[in-house]
Amino acid sequence: MTQQDAVSDSVGVKRSIFIIDDEESIRKVLFTHLSKEGFGVIQSSGGHGVFDALKNSSFEVLICDIKMPEIEGTEVLAFAKQNFEAVPVIMLTGLTDVAVAVDVMKRGAFDYLMKPVKKDDMLNAIRRALIHRDLLLRNKQLEKENREYQLYLEEKVRERTKELDAKTAALQDAYLILKSMNMQFANVLAEIIEAKDRYTRGHCNRMRALSVALGRAAGLLPAELDALEYASLLHDLGKIGVSEVILNKEGALSEEESKRMKEHSEIGEKILLGIPMMEEVAMITGAHHENYDGSGYPRGLHGNAIPFSSRIIAVADLYDAMCSDRPYRKGLTPDEAVKEMKRVAGAQLDPEIVDLFIKQRIYERASARE
Ligand SMILES: [Fe+2]
Repeated sequence: MTQQDAVSDSVGVKRSIFIIDDEESIRKVLFTHLSKEGFGVIQSSGGHGVFDALKNSSFEVLICDIKMPEIEGTEVLAFAKQNFEAVPVIMLTGLTDVAVAVDVMKRGAFDYLMKPVKKDDMLNAIRRALIHRDLLLRNKQLEKENREYQLYLEEKVRERTKELDAKTAALQDAYLILKSMNMQFANVLAEIIEAKDRYTRGHCNRMRALSVALGRAAGLLPAELDALEYASLLHDLGKIGVSEVILNKEGALSEEESKRMKEHSEIGEKILLGIPMMEEVAMITGAHHENYDGSGYPRGLHGNAIPFSSRIIAVADLYDAMCSDRPYRKGLTPDEAVKEMKRVAGAQLDPEIVDLFIKQRIYERASARE
């Protein structure tokens, strides 16, 4: 610390020392030394008025005698520690008061000086006290700034989180709207297919109910269930590319007509492959006429090589077809249809899925019939 720093603060304001001593001669000596060094000096002889004097003054270091007739120096020290936290207190003591000096240090005094006070000792103690005070205040300022910055950051994080939450909610809403729109389009497509094929009225919606119930019972994940739902609605989408004459023919199909009819699996798959995010649905649709024993079409896939959801759709498709009335035959009862499904389990259908379908009475729970 330079001489200048010692007597004035960073903005050049004179630094003040408050001296309390009942001996006028000591106060006079201290006053003279300190004034010469450029300090502002306030002095008091102690007594009961000293607390008010301290409260009404502005000072940076307090020098206080320990032994005074009216008020003990330790009382002043306690008062200063309580009211002027950043003001260092230097106690003055007689040679015989060493134990008392140790005691005041324990009580929080910054330093103590032996009487008679040497000028250099006093100035050194005051300089150290001022450095200590400046560091203390600087630390407090930094702590305050840190706290403020922390609060500022926390506020920013709160604001940002709120913004992100709002954006996430808006995106979620938009996603749900898009999802619902997609499903509505899929329904429209399903209705178009049904309008073309008079034998399949209501078939797509029943298929959806049966397939999703089966998928849930089989423990499919939400994304898998979504794909299954679309595929069950759109499994016959490829019939768009098959002549209505063939679709609505009452008698048996010729070999050529049967070939055309079988093409609907691949036509549907190709249409769906052209739609973003529909690859899974396309794959399931393309394999919905594959048989478990490998005798199906279009690829002759076998067992687990057939997508699981395609095997589910095959079960629901056969059940619904058997239970539906045709112009040339009456639909089977559920019990009759179940009996037939048991018969073809392991050949046309996946036996485990048939088992699940029957044991959990999926056909009843899904309220599949119109
Ligand atoms: Fe089909």
